[in-house]
Order: sequence, then C-alpha cells, then structure tokens
Amino acid sequence: MPTLLFFLVSFLLLLINISAQNTCPNCGNTAVPYPLSTDQNCGDSRYKIYCNNGSLEFLSATKNYYKILSIDPKANKLVIKPAPIVKNTCQSTDLKDGGLLIEDNSPFNISTHNTVMLFNCAETILLSPLNCTATSICKQYEEKVEEGKGCKNTLCCHYLKDSAMNSRKIRIRNGGCSSYTSIVDYKPEQAISSWNYGVELQWVPANK
Ligand SMILES: *[C@@H]1O[C@H](CO)[C@@H](O)[C@H](O)[C@H]1NC(C)=O
Ligand SMILES: *[C@@H]1O[C@H](CO)[C@@H](O)[C@H](O)[C@H]1NC(C)=O
Ligand SMILES: *[C@@H]1O[C@H](CO)[C@@H](O)[C@H](O)[C@H]1NC(C)=O
Repeated sequence: MPTLLFFLVSFLLLLINISAQNTCPNCGNTAVPYPLSTDQNCGDSRYKIYCNNGSLEFLSATKNYYKILSIDPKANKLVIKPAPIVKNTCQSTDLKDGGLLIEDNSPFNISTHNTVMLFNCAETILLSPLNCTATSICKQYEEKVEEGKGCKNTLCCHYLKDSAMNSRKIRIRNGGCSSYTSIVDYKPEQAISSWNYGVELQWVPANK
C-alpha cells in the first residue's frame, strides 16, 4: 500500500510539473517545445518566437523575421534560415539593418557551430584573421550555388563564429561586406550539396 501511494503522489507531482511548464500549442504542424513561447499565455515569455501563418519565426533586434528551420529543445538550440541574398545582387535582404542582430538582453545568442561566409567585402577585410584566400569555401558558394551567383568574383571570406566574437550579430554593411550566409556544423570533407545552411542559436536554459 505505501508503494502504491508513493506512485500516486509521484504521478500527481509529475502532472503538476507538466502543467506548470505550460507548453505552447503546435504552430501549423510544428511543435513548440518549452520554454519557447508563441503567446504570452504559454511557454516562458522571455523566449518569445512567432507563429506566422503556420510557420515559426525568430524576430531580430531590427524587427526582421527569420524562419526557424529546426529546434533541439534538449540541447537548447534552434536553427534559423539566413536572410536570402536578393537575386542578381550581392546584397542580403537584411543589409539595410546591418545583418543579423539579436537584442542585447535576449536569452538567445549565436552558437559556435556556425561557419559564416561574407561576400563583396572591402579590401580592409584582408587585415582581419578571416580566411579570404582563393581556397575559402565562399568561392565555391559564389560559383556553384545559384543564390551566390550575384556575388561572383567579389572579395569574400569565411570564418568559424567562435566565442571570441560578438555572439549577437553577423554584421554586414554597405562599404564593408554586403551579404552573408552561414552553414551549421560545416566539415571540410563535406560536399557542397550537403551543406546545412542556417544560423544556429542557443538559449539560456529556463528554470522549470
Ligand atoms: C500562408 O501560407 C499559405 C500556405 O502555405 C500560403 O499559400 C500563403 O501565401 C501564406 N500567406 C502569407 C501571407 O504568407
Ligand atoms: C582557408 O580555407 C580553406 C578551405 O577550408 C583551407 O583549405 C585553407 O587552408 C584555409 N587557409 C587559411 C590561410 O586558413
Ligand atoms: C551564449 O549563450 C550560451 C548559452 O546560454 C552561454 O553559455 C554563452 O556564455 C553565451 N555566449 C556569450 C558570448 O554570451
């Protein structure tokens, strides 16, 4: 009998815990894992994301929406789609806002699993430690990927977004580099056709 009671109490505590977490309803067909919040009545409101027309989106500090491609709640990570490069140009759609910027007090930041490529850069980039050589993977992107064609033969570079860099922005600007893209978990032996385009964000674990 005491064992049964123990199980009953444990079960009730579990139920209470689950309801306290208050997970948001699906957005279209996509689950919205806790603590992500599409509505002030569910999730943890500090982890605000948006359900726009059945797809999840992340809002930047400059009010641009980036589509959320995948979410890994166990690892506290999600991947957003980089801003597209406007066809026949070498300009990302978020160029006017300086690229991807995340609020300073946001629980989200850019993880160290992103290999970022910058295109159409000014010569001063050569003073930086970025890889702007003829073998940089950005050259392959310019030549082989449709979206990169507008950047062909521009000065371009790539780098691994590491912890020494500002983890709340991928900066581009007119007169600097005017477009970018990013690959998650890039490995040198990987074929260009299997590059996983995205910007991986991580979040501070929520209290449950
Ligand atoms: C909303 O989604 C539907 C179906 O995917 C699509 O046809 C429609 O154009 C979308 N509307 C907007 C405003 O994005
Ligand atoms: C630049 O990147 C290419 C491709 O990953 C690599 O083969 C090359 O060694 C890198 N060069 C420098 C100077 O880091
Ligand atoms: C980014 O977020 C992670 C997870 O919350 C945290 O551990 C890390 O210190 C943050 N990085 C920076 C540079 O703020």
